[in-house]
Amino acid sequence: MSLLPILRFPDPRLRKVAAPVDRIDESIRRLVRDMAETMYEAPGIGLAATQVDVHKRVIVIDVSETRDQLLTLINPEIVERDGVQVCEEGCLSVPGIYERVERAERVIARYLDPDGVQRTVDASGLLAVCLQHEIDHLEGRVFVEHLSQLKQMRIRNKLAKQARITA
Ligand code: NI
Repeated sequence: MSLLPILRFPDPRLRKVAAPVDRIDESIRRLVRDMAETMYEAPGIGLAATQVDVHKRVIVIDVSETRDQLLTLINPEIVERDGVQVCEEGCLSVPGIYERVERAERVIARYLDPDGVQRTVDASGLLAVCLQHEIDHLEGRVFVEHLSQLKQMRIRNKLAKQARITA
């Protein structure tokens, strides 16, 4: 297993739309293992392949406090959404930035597990937020793009300043 470098907003590669996985082979299984290791190490509660510059529809999530409930979703698709919630979100690609984003309160998503079995997850609360956030990444969208232009500009400036300090 190996840790994968995570792209940082506003890297243009975060805007790429990921392609569906047509065959779950060893390279996909290796990607899933590396993504899980990278997410746990960060630490984060979710990671999309887009963030590690692999433009395939693969997501790993673990919202458990015990960090042992890994959920791997291949070709995830939201088939139902319901209600509204506002939650403070962060992202491994936007370090140090936390902002409130409006999302559906509950979503039902269909996906393939790493064995290629079609599954459904019925999620609310944090898991629902995380699913929407990660599926957005596969569409080339970072959570800050849900915010006003003014807020986005402030975030870009703050990140640029951070980059200069750490460079
Ligand atoms: Ni993210």
